[in-house]
Amino acid sequence: MLEPDELLYDLIRFFTPKRLAGQHVLVSAGPTFEAIDPVRGLTNLSSGKMGFAIARAAHEAGAKVTLVAGPVGLPTPRGVGRVNVKSALNMQKSLDHLAQAATVFVSAAAVADWRPAQMLDQKIKKDGSGEVPTLSFVENPDILAGIAASPRAHSGALYCVGFAAESHDLLAHAQAKRARKGVPLLVGNIGPDTFGQDDNALLLVDEDGTLELPRASKLVLARQLIAEIARRLHS
Ligand code: CTP
Repeated sequence: MLEPDELLYDLIRFFTPKRLAGQHVLVSAGPTFEAIDPVRGLTNLSSGKMGFAIARAAHEAGAKVTLVAGPVGLPTPRGVGRVNVKSALNMQKSLDHLAQAATVFVSAAAVADWRPAQMLDQKIKKDGSGEVPTLSFVENPDILAGIAASPRAHSGALYCVGFAAESHDLLAHAQAKRARKGVPLLVGNIGPDTFGQDDNALLLVDEDGTLELPRASKLVLARQLIAEIARRLHS
């Protein structure tokens, strides 16, 4: 017996144009968590809501969808396959593997830029002296740039979409990031305003220029973004 939510979802999916039929969409979502010791770590602010909405919208549009999710408490969208990961290195391993069979990769995850140079296997204890630990960090790999530089992405077999969470100068940063990551489509948003919220506003940047998707719920925006991706795949 289907739950009312599931029934509603199936109805919406039934009436959604199958713009992504035959596509395998890989979506990364949420933050990564970089352990310092067994009880502490470094992470990014990200609820995962945008990435989960994109996975849902891609499935509604008829794609096979795999979601690679950092630590978030969100339910898996109906019909979507999910792999849970923790650190950027875990996320990279899963995405590199899954990208070999995907036809679209949407990189919505907020990957931590750095990780502690070493993960201590015992909790760092205070010794009462007031002395603070010195931590050193190493840079995490750029997962999206790596996948966008792969032979499948270069041949056009894998269409890569990046995100840019910025605090200011959205257009300039999104254009620069599109070039730096080597992706055909970059989706910019003002991060701090929208973290954890149910709505957002997006700025799409591609070789033809820009397109603003005005403030709306993340699911509405995700459906619009999927339609834009489908249009580019078919043109
Ligand atoms: N990304 C990634 N691997 C990283 C960092 C980011 O795959 N190590 C991806 C994100 O999923 C997103 C895009 O790259 O699609 C941009 O991420 P963002 O955090 O906005 O930019 P950064 O590359 O981290 O650059 P900066 O921190 O300087 O803004």
